[in-house]
Amino acid sequence: MTNEFDTQILIDSIENELHRSLNDLGEAELRQYYFMLAYHLGWEGEGAGAETRGKRIRPLLLLLSCAAAGGQWQEALPAAAAVELIHNFSLIHDDIQDNSPIRRGRETVWKRWGVAQAINAGDAMFTLAHMSLLRLDSTSSPGIAIQAAKTLHQACLKLTKGQYLDLEFETQEQISLEAYWEMVGGKTAALLAACTELGAIVANTSQSRHEHYRDFGFKLGLAFQAQDDILGIWGDAALTGKSNESDLIARKKSLPVLYGLQQQGAFAKRWNQGPVDLSEVEFLAKQLETENARRYTEEFANRLTDEALQSLFAANPSGAAGEMLDKLAKKLLRREL
Ligand code: IPE
Ligand code: IPE
Ligand code: MG
Ligand code: MG
Repeated sequence: MTNEFDTQILIDSIENELHRSLNDLGEAELRQYYFMLAYHLGWEGEGAGAETRGKRIRPLLLLLSCAAAGGQWQEALPAAAAVELIHNFSLIHDDIQDNSPIRRGRETVWKRWGVAQAINAGDAMFTLAHMSLLRLDSTSSPGIAIQAAKTLHQACLKLTKGQYLDLEFETQEQISLEAYWEMVGGKTAALLAACTELGAIVANTSQSRHEHYRDFGFKLGLAFQAQDDILGIWGDAALTGKSNESDLIARKKSLPVLYGLQQQGAFAKRWNQGPVDLSEVEFLAKQLETENARRYTEEFANRLTDEALQSLFAANPSGAAGEMLDKLAKKLLRREL
């Protein structure tokens, strides 16, 4: 049984399913258009390969949740490809919204092909995701496909609400912690919650277990974003593949920044004077760390991961897949993937 959950087998199966999804775009018909999407997924262009593909954690969580809930992970592959495509659609658009030139160590789609084409490529990715999900009607059943579609549509709506708040907060001075968690619950945790719930849906398990799986993904998503906020300020760009300057320059209300503002020290003083430029980022990052914003955020991420693991425990996951979910959650917190 253990071999069945060899991560490499799951990853290879996810890649195959993603290729199947992109076939709907018709590579032969418009090669350059296909190339933009394949580039973003890390399949084409300079540096194509594991480093530029991203971690694929959402489809992994989905397949493992399905297996741990007693289902056949192979049946869930269309949903696994769908969540990864939704994630990548959101990244293509997010990089425009955040004015980010680099992702996974390469130029972002908008930087390379312009904003107009990047919006269109993101739209295609979004559509392919939903087409992929509908293949559940043959791997599983039409009833499960409809239930899954509702879950994913709802998550997508929450994601756009979270993005709305994230962008809106850039120009607001006072953001409460409550508002921060509402924003993160939308922009990041809603999709992770949908991943673990979709696994349970395909496994056709009980309603109460659905809820535990959903809570597991949701809390993990909150912890994941808090960790991403840390990387957005103190991360090594060579490892994360994205800028560690743009969050402060864009005045993102990340968790370390909110904590720093509460301290009313040197960080808050400079921040409240107005826009930050590139030459000041290093000072502000150091100051935030001195004022304990990093430690506070790390502790929060740890606590949320513990809560996520409690929900997983309540879901009573079975076998090797259950153990792998536990390990994956802990690895995510340490970003060892
Ligand atoms: C980045 O997600 C965006 C967030 C929701 C924080 P990931 O860190 O999962 O991105 P990739 O797919 O591995 O690059
Ligand atoms: C994460 O956005 C959520 C979505 C993309 C929907 P962020 O802007 O916080 O993540 P990165 O740092 O660009 O990956
Ligand atoms: Mg963003
Ligand atoms: Mg961003």
